[in-house]
Amino acid sequence: MPVFRPDLREIPSYTPGRPIADVAEEYGFDPAGVVKLASNELPFAPLEPVMEAMRKALLEIHRYPDTEARRLRSALSDQLDVAYDEVMVGAGSSEILRVVAMAIGGPGTSAVYAWPSFVIYRLGSILAMSDRYEVPLDGAQRHDLRAMAAAITPTTRVVYICNPNNPTGTLLSSSEVRAFVDAVPESVLVLVDEAYGEFVTEPGWESAATLALERPNVMVTRTFSKIHGLAALRIGYAISRADTIAELRKVQAPFSVTSVGLAAALESLRYPQAIADRVAMNAAGRDRIQAALGELGIEFVPSHSNFICFRLGKPDVVADAFLRHRIILRPFGEDWVRVTVGTERENELFLTALRAVCADRR
Ligand SMILES: Cc1ncc(COP(=O)(O)O)c(C=O)c1O
Repeated sequence: MPVFRPDLREIPSYTPGRPIADVAEEYGFDPAGVVKLASNELPFAPLEPVMEAMRKALLEIHRYPDTEARRLRSALSDQLDVAYDEVMVGAGSSEILRVVAMAIGGPGTSAVYAWPSFVIYRLGSILAMSDRYEVPLDGAQRHDLRAMAAAITPTTRVVYICNPNNPTGTLLSSSEVRAFVDAVPESVLVLVDEAYGEFVTEPGWESAATLALERPNVMVTRTFSKIHGLAALRIGYAISRADTIAELRKVQAPFSVTSVGLAAALESLRYPQAIADRVAMNAAGRDRIQAALGELGIEFVPSHSNFICFRLGKPDVVADAFLRHRIILRPFGEDWVRVTVGTERENELFLTALRAVCADRR
């Protein structure tokens, strides 16, 4: 076998939510009856005009995509009221997160992030050979910003803030994020990952995008994978000062974003009402699930996102019990199981399974 970097041993393989086909085969279920609520995906198929834009883009698939992503960056800059060169597009926001880790990290540097949080902060830092400071969430499962600020040392190059946090769904207010940025040296990049930002319905909450343009060391990442429902196309974006974007783009693989992804994302931006409807549907489903968890006396973390963490026993055992009821959930660590808000029907199926799992345990 070839000799690989020994530190790759530290990298556990990424464990995605289990695919429906996989579970159906193992348990002998009809795949049509299996509900996947494990990967924080949008439960709806793309809008018809978005499908049409993809079909059209397929006709040009023999050509390389526009590696500058000109049309999408222009549309995003108009919509977000930022300059064209303050926007970067990536193959999912996770590509941008990896690019940041590589461009800014390296031996002798360090990265700070909360834990548990999105695993790519950890993987990117290992790949970049940066030291990692994983700061435990506080008792309310929120980022402990005071401890995170205290973890910054002269070697720190980046602090990742996941807002809302995956997997807990907890939210930092706009003023908390601003105060944190004030406390961080300008030489440290504060990357605010808002993959789930569109799902937030908290009055007064604002994206850190404004902050990203005001300050030289703040960056916001967002994605078309969640509220836009284009997860399989791998397309996300970042907002930061133009000089930061220019440095990062040197590290990004050329042509990493596909032409079909670019076309779909561009089209999807044209339907703000559809996005608003999805936000409302998600909020209603989230309320419904949280109310039911409360009624059943099950501990959960109040969520600002499209998923909810609850505690019902050993996570692997609980997730397995749900699989037997044809519901795929995601176990996390020692305590939590995470359920993604689905369609109304899927949410009801989840709640029926939840009651059955609770009854079986008595
Ligand atoms: C917090 C967070 N950030 C970023 C991503 C990456 O999304 P994508 O690479 O699909 O844009 C995810 C995906 O689950 C996530 O949970």
